[in-house]
Amino acid sequence: MSATLIDGKAYAARLRARVADRVAQLVPQAGQAPGLAVVLVGHDPASEVYVRSKGKQAVEAGMKSFEHRLPATTPEHELLDLIARLNADTQVHGILVQLPLPDHLDARAVINAIAPHKDVDGFHISNVGMVGTGQDAIVPCTPLGCMMMLRDYHSDFRGKTALVIGHSNVVGKPMARLLLNADCTVMVAHKHSTNIPELARMADILVVAAGVPGLVKGDWIKPGATVIDVGINRVDADTPGKTRLVGDVDFDAAAKVAGAITPVPGGVGPMTIACLLANTLSAYCHQHGLEDAPLLHDEQDS
Ligand code: GUN
Repeated sequence: MSATLIDGKAYAARLRARVADRVAQLVPQAGQAPGLAVVLVGHDPASEVYVRSKGKQAVEAGMKSFEHRLPATTPEHELLDLIARLNADTQVHGILVQLPLPDHLDARAVINAIAPHKDVDGFHISNVGMVGTGQDAIVPCTPLGCMMMLRDYHSDFRGKTALVIGHSNVVGKPMARLLLNADCTVMVAHKHSTNIPELARMADILVVAAGVPGLVKGDWIKPGATVIDVGINRVDADTPGKTRLVGDVDFDAAAKVAGAITPVPGGVGPMTIACLLANTLSAYCHQHGLEDAPLLHDEQDS
């Protein structure tokens, strides 16, 4: 391996520590702790794990965590009533509805019912629109974490060519918008694109969020490129009955060519919740009229 390993676990630990320090400073001024409400509808096993981690890490950062677990059969009006109560609750500064929602619920309507200033996922249409037009807004957590790590390897994005593989609303589209806002030349590929290897070979920055294990091969990588692998796929391990996590990039082959690369696990994954805490702190600062100090700059790596 010749690429530098981008240690997302370490970045996330440092970001969580900065959030916790700032929370400890601000609570005496504000007279209350930041509050994060997480809503889970149903029993999706992966969502259960994420929701538990989000609550635990919020509490470890000195925040209040409010977990709302609703049955899978919850009617939409009940979920909307809960969101209206959370919007009005002054103890709650950030609201997150874990996705995916059961099929009978209209995820778009549910997300857009969250007050935009409490939408710490950055999924509300007004936050999406503001990011899309280059305005300050709440930015989705996974792309935010990717940008934070990328900034350490690219002090200037201008003139760089970036390829984002995947065009989901959660990762691919906001990631492309952030790279564009940073003046990259941005390409977006997805499952209907026919020439992804050729596009990838042009990319100084490659962000992969396709959900396809090992999709990106070593010979797709431009020598020296920075590779951010957002994929988290559970596959069978060599030992029968065991599984392991792999990304969307063939890590061993890519690491021989790339300049820097995130591993899976331990790359982007841990940054997502750390960025959620940073977004919650930021929402709390705005709601209390407190200065929202930039926490995303990582001094250790500058
Ligand atoms: N499901 C998978 N990722 C996310 C996320 O970042 N936020 C929410 N709310 N649900 C998710």
